[in-house]
Amino acid sequence: MVKLDSISKSFGGNTVVKNISLEIAAGERFTLLGQSGCGKTTLLRMIAGFETPDSGTIAIEGQDVGSLPIEKRPVGLIFQNYALFPHMSVYDNIAVGPRIRKHSESDIAKRVDELLEITHLKALRDVHPGQISGGEAQRVALARAVINRPKILLLDEPLSALDLSLRQHLREELVEMQRALNITFLFVTHDQEEAMGLATRMGIMDEGRLQQVGTPAELYERPETDFVAEFLGDVNRLTGKVEQRTGNTVTLSLGPTGNIQCISESSELENQTCYVRPEKLFFDTGRPQTQPVNILQGTLRSIQFFGSHSRYQLELAGGQMLTLSPQHRKSGCPQYSIGDSVRVLFAVSDVFTTRRGANEQ
Ligand SMILES: Nc1ncnc2c1ncn2[C@@H]1O[C@H](COP(=O)(O)OP(=O)(O)OP(=O)(O)O)[C@@H](O)[C@H]1O
Ligand SMILES: [Mg+2]
Repeated sequence: MVKLDSISKSFGGNTVVKNISLEIAAGERFTLLGQSGCGKTTLLRMIAGFETPDSGTIAIEGQDVGSLPIEKRPVGLIFQNYALFPHMSVYDNIAVGPRIRKHSESDIAKRVDELLEITHLKALRDVHPGQISGGEAQRVALARAVINRPKILLLDEPLSALDLSLRQHLREELVEMQRALNITFLFVTHDQEEAMGLATRMGIMDEGRLQQVGTPAELYERPETDFVAEFLGDVNRLTGKVEQRTGNTVTLSLGPTGNIQCISESSELENQTCYVRPEKLFFDTGRPQTQPVNILQGTLRSIQFFGSHSRYQLELAGGQMLTLSPQHRKSGCPQYSIGDSVRVLFAVSDVFTTRRGANEQ
């Protein structure tokens, strides 16, 4: 549906989009996640035609759209700070696009009514934007953006102005509406939960570069770069001296903390960095383990209770902090206190390494 090939863009010598290539298939909900200023909006503006890339090509359904003006591109856009026309009813706000294109009022009515149905706005048809909620306004913006039947809808942080509970609710609604409209979504956000919750696939951007593309699970479980490993979700980073390498099993010395093992394809002979997610760490209950595990000992420095799980900070002998967030079992949450000396376990297979360092793209 969309194919970006080596897109770059600079503003006054500052390159904000760097050689991005990306393909998005029809019907996907693709999310781009990245910190503020990493170039997300600039990329969307180039796809929509508000900016011209310095180099590279953009194709939609196989057609190079480089020479197409904004209004000819089969693209709908919901801006970061979208605004509805305050003096027009919900119906008239949605009808703006086709009226500019001089479609007949009967065609427009048919399409608007269909969209009011899909977006659950029928009851608000004749109401003005000042009298509707933030979530409802967001749905009007969606209907307005898709009324001209774009092939792809670009959504630039459309939920960022809304409060948290409404955002979560609208996220589910957006997925439902995307299916009903059978449209391709390209959604950009700096909110991880939003990016993962909405996506069929996602990409992670950093300083204008696309770091990695995959399903949310692939990016979380198999990050390819140190940046992705540390950016997406919580992770413990452990760097040690390579003591021994047997096949792809590496023994690392963490100094006074002890040794751990990990699986690594790299042939690094001196130092190796590896990662383990906090939810993969467990307190040692003395039960025998069925798989190879690493054992570390430390002192509990903080405990936070979150209902389904707790979060613990453990200080290892070398002074390094380790975060644990095991799920609570049926037997209830374990009883530990700050200052306790504890042993924690994690499976060797839950320790991962990345293929590329943060600055080795
Ligand atoms: N028209 C412009 N002229 C000059 N610099 C620009 C222009 N548009 C964007 N930039 C710069 O390009 C960089 C990327 O901006 P962009 O708006 O794409 O980031 P973003 O990822 O959308 O950030 P946010 O999450 O805050 O919306 C920023 O440093 C910004 O200042
Ligand atoms: Mg932006």
